[in-house]
Amino acid sequence: MKSVLRLTVNGRDEELLVDSRAVLAEVLRNELRLTGTHIGCGTGSCGACTVLLNGDTVKSCCVVALDAAGQDVTTIEGIADGTALHPMQEAFASHQGLQCGYCTPGMILSSLQLLRDNPSPSESEVRHAIAGNLCRCTGYHFIVDSVLAAAERMRDGVE
Ligand code: FES
Ligand code: FES
Repeated sequence: MKSVLRLTVNGRDEELLVDSRAVLAEVLRNELRLTGTHIGCGTGSCGACTVLLNGDTVKSCCVVALDAAGQDVTTIEGIADGTALHPMQEAFASHQGLQCGYCTPGMILSSLQLLRDNPSPSESEVRHAIAGNLCRCTGYHFIVDSVLAAAERMRDGVE
């Protein structure tokens, strides 16, 4: 059965006809073509599908899309300023925070929520914040470096 879903995605109002069983990750990828939201496990374990829902991270493979009606979704495509990368994206690029990149959108969105709540995190606080985002490539060290570098830059007022 299909139902109308109205929500805001990356600042844009959207109205879509979606399967009532579809999860948010599927709607973002398949209907809105926002393929930066990745699907790894599909069961809430890996964090590849992390997006911000009203500013807080959720695993979008576990959110029924219709439950996001009327809410505000931010995906990785929504954080850059036009062609200028967000400082967090720049930090991941310049500090080798990614290899295959599959985990990267979710890592970045989890890290942004951390810095919103705690602009000066310690290394262990960064590790705790990304604990729900699995990376099979990097060993996490350069991801943590990237987040700490972004935090410093954002505290210096570069947004
Ligand atoms: Fe959603 Fe793995 S795809 S947590
Ligand atoms: Fe490959 Fe993290 S960079 S899974």
